Amino acid sequence: MTEPLNPVGEVYLVGAGPGDPELLTLKALRLMKQADVAVYDRLIGPEILQLLEPRVECIFVGKAPDHHTLPQNDINRLLVDLALQGKNVLRLKGGDPFIFGRGGEEIQTLMAAGIRFQVVPGVTAAAGCAAYAGIPLTHRDFAQSCVFVTGHLKEGTLDLNWPALAQPRQTVVFYMGLKSVEHICERLREYGMAPDMPVALVEQGTLAGQRVHVSTIAGLPQRLIGAGARSPALLIVGEVVKLHSQLMWFQPAPLS
Ligand SMILES: C[S@@+](CC[C@H](N)C(=O)[O-])C[C@H]1O[C@@H](n2cnc3c(N)ncnc32)[C@H](O)[C@@H]1O
Repeated sequence: MTEPLNPVGEVYLVGAGPGDPELLTLKALRLMKQADVAVYDRLIGPEILQLLEPRVECIFVGKAPDHHTLPQNDINRLLVDLALQGKNVLRLKGGDPFIFGRGGEEIQTLMAAGIRFQVVPGVTAAAGCAAYAGIPLTHRDFAQSCVFVTGHLKEGTLDLNWPALAQPRQTVVFYMGLKSVEHICERLREYGMAPDMPVALVEQGTLAGQRVHVSTIAGLPQRLIGAGARSPALLIVGEVVKLHSQLMWFQPAPLS
């Protein structure tokens, strides 16, 4: 049997972790070496892109907060088109593709188009930031469960199960919550969380520029005024944050 002239390529949906390139998995690295083209988001830093072969075509599709360089449907279509051109496509996403990463939507499109794909999990921001900030997300003395929630405001509000989030003995991690810090802290207090509940905002987690702002849900909005906190940033709410002062180990590079 003769081979088709232009066999269809495969898509590798790969989680690149929260930033430190050494948090890439071996599988991610292997597929990065096999790719012909890389389609990547804003959270993928230059140190990770440098690991690609020089021959690899790199396509930036954006996804800054509130600003998608390419709308999601166009990204889905792009992946299909590149694979139909016979290319092996590396779809590189920050953290884990299935945690607030829209990876599910992308592979639904691939599945519908009959394109082969593989999914490689990555270290999600909650795990990476917590580890590098010395904040265990669970701890027998403080938290028996941990919840990951979106802090992304829709029409100026967050439609979340606040009574459940305000429960004691759990850790609540808000992704995309930098702009909604005030709203989140207010709602948690309104639904019964103690005003002195510790909270940490981890900025640029696992990277040389990591900063950890520790406060309480009553004090954080004030604490951030003038701090110049920048995205990406993750909010960790819960008693486990108390452990930060004892367990912090990661020394980010000093500002030059
Ligand atoms: C669209 S979500 C993508 C999450 C990603 N799929 C994951 O599993 O980590 C983007 C949010 O992840 C969080 N994030 C990602 N990388 C981060 C980092 N290095 N430091 C702090 N937060 C990070 C921030 O809350 C950011 O707004």
